[in-house]
Amino acid sequence: MTVNFIGAGPGAADLITLRGRDLIAACPVCLYAGSLVPPALLSHCPQGARIVNTAPLSLDDIIAEMQEAHARGLDVARLHSGDLSIWSAMGEQLRRLRGLDIPYRITPGVPAFAAAAAALEAELTLPGVAQSVVLTRTPGRASAMPAGETLANFARTGATLAIHLSIHALDRVIDDLTPHYGADCPVAVVWRASWPDQKLIRATLATVAAQTEGIDRTALILVGPALAADGFDDSRLYAAGYDRRYRPTGPAPRFPGTVPE
Ligand SMILES: C[S@@+](CC[C@H](N)C(=O)[O-])C[C@H]1O[C@@H](n2cnc3c(N)ncnc32)[C@H](O)[C@@H]1O
Repeated sequence: MTVNFIGAGPGAADLITLRGRDLIAACPVCLYAGSLVPPALLSHCPQGARIVNTAPLSLDDIIAEMQEAHARGLDVARLHSGDLSIWSAMGEQLRRLRGLDIPYRITPGVPAFAAAAAALEAELTLPGVAQSVVLTRTPGRASAMPAGETLANFARTGATLAIHLSIHALDRVIDDLTPHYGADCPVAVVWRASWPDQKLIRATLATVAAQTEGIDRTALILVGPALAADGFDDSRLYAAGYDRRYRPTGPAPRFPGTVPE
């Protein structure tokens, strides 16, 4: 018996991995985080599966479901939105399962920031403009931010910021970032990336507030010069004269153990 934590992706029902889909189909118990996991994914559950929306449950209730399945020898599919490595509350579940000696396995998913970048047709790391992406949030009712993890601190780096769980605090985001990035810095807000009703807003720090009225909850705020840069350098990776393992330009063998194609 195994509890399979599965990244359910950002919303579109076909943005789940094949492994994740097959695991859902093989598990007689499915626990899903109902607020964001697309309901269409539940159609992969086998007939007669026990399917539980964990949104109204406590951690104790969720672990009790897993213990019950363990006692009966039933595999569990545990679905969380996006990927499991960020804001999934998986860490606390794994800690309990380790204490109870219940086996688990983790299958990654497509995170919302990747779906948002795809919707924007944007590379977030452009040569010479930004080479880092900071996945962050502002403090919430249930989660304080550790000292030092402030938007201002991240902004000092000039990296592309992907700000989660914060659309309700947009005014504060703008106030914290404008001194560092400047009022004309590009901002994108992606609401329900990959869902059929997805919305894209392209703005600047100066204009974004006026353009996002009515947008709430499932939205990602992306900030940084990479979002609108056009005058960036080509990467060296595909430059004609760039000597590299898979496309050596010098006398062979430049890289021992490789055969030029
Ligand atoms: C609890 S976090 C879950 C993050 C998720 N584990 C991931 O990998 O993206 C929820 C936040 O992620 C962002 N989010 C999740 N799905 C989204 C989507 N389809 N479009 C835009 N933002 C999304 C929003 O900022 C939302 O408040």
